[in-house]
Amino acid sequence: MEIRTDLFLGDSKEVLKKLPDNSVDLIATSPPYADQRKGTYGGIHPDKYVEWFLPISEQLFRVLKPTGTFILNIKEKVVDGERSIYVMELIIAMRKQGWLWTEEFIWHKKNSFPGKWPNRFRDSWERLLQFNKSKNFNMYQDEVKVPIGDWAKGRLKNLSETDKIRDNAKNGSGFGKNVSNWLGKETVFPTNVLHLATECNNKNHSAAFPEELPEWFIKLFTKQEDTVLDPFVGSGTTLFVSKRMRRHSIGIDITPEYYEMIKSQINPVELYLLEPKVKYGEAKPKRRYAIR
Ligand SMILES: C[S@@+](CC[C@H](N)C(=O)[O-])C[C@H]1O[C@@H](n2cnc3c(N)ncnc32)[C@H](O)[C@@H]1O
Repeated sequence: MEIRTDLFLGDSKEVLKKLPDNSVDLIATSPPYADQRKGTYGGIHPDKYVEWFLPISEQLFRVLKPTGTFILNIKEKVVDGERSIYVMELIIAMRKQGWLWTEEFIWHKKNSFPGKWPNRFRDSWERLLQFNKSKNFNMYQDEVKVPIGDWAKGRLKNLSETDKIRDNAKNGSGFGKNVSNWLGKETVFPTNVLHLATECNNKNHSAAFPEELPEWFIKLFTKQEDTVLDPFVGSGTTLFVSKRMRRHSIGIDITPEYYEMIKSQINPVELYLLEPKVKYGEAKPKRRYAIR
């Protein structure tokens, strides 16, 4: 089957209305953070962020399949010496909209360089919030297994009697483990912390995420020929990775420069014009392309 990649220029709030209900398997995106990057795009005040985002998440809810997943990369910044709380407010508002907040992954930016401020250290992680429409979402856990690691060599060499039975935690938490279950295993399930380097400004976009980020979630939540959506696609990372992994994908961005950049990189084939006479920068979908 031919893999489709559709690209739209415009405001996601409007463009998303063109997409059919229950048609997307995974939404993976990094929207503009509150009050950042005013010089390029965004610059939404933290107090207005929820109000700005909700019409978009309403459309995302409509287009996501009941078995699908929404991964939202976001992080509240420091305002006047305090962490702002708009992300928390957004989670609460999205739950009221019908979303389930099912999980939170952490993106540990492992290549952050050192830094110090009078009252804090380098912020070296971001949230990857997982939302779903139902608890029965598709998840292919075996696809993201990791090598068991060197610790296993020593730890599994001489097993005690307690290592061979389920040993319940002493603190009464109900957690327990049977260490002997790891014998002979080469791979294990990962944790919910992703240790990934940040993208090093080689994509002509000031906030591109590393390819491994969408790649990990595409493996975990989709199979080949499923559809991935990024409503704030920027330099197109999600589209390039989806195409390489044989997933259909849809990207939307409001900035003509990024839209043109993606087009020039993937040699798109124009499908049809949605609004041929609209000028760049207007908050309406302009063109729709298939990238081959
Ligand atoms: C953090 S960047 C995304 C970076 C992307 N993940 C990448 O790898 O390059 C956010 C993007 O959202 C776009 N954007 C901002 N407001 C938008 C809106 N209302 N609709 C669509 N795109 C928007 C910006 O132009 C910007 O490229």
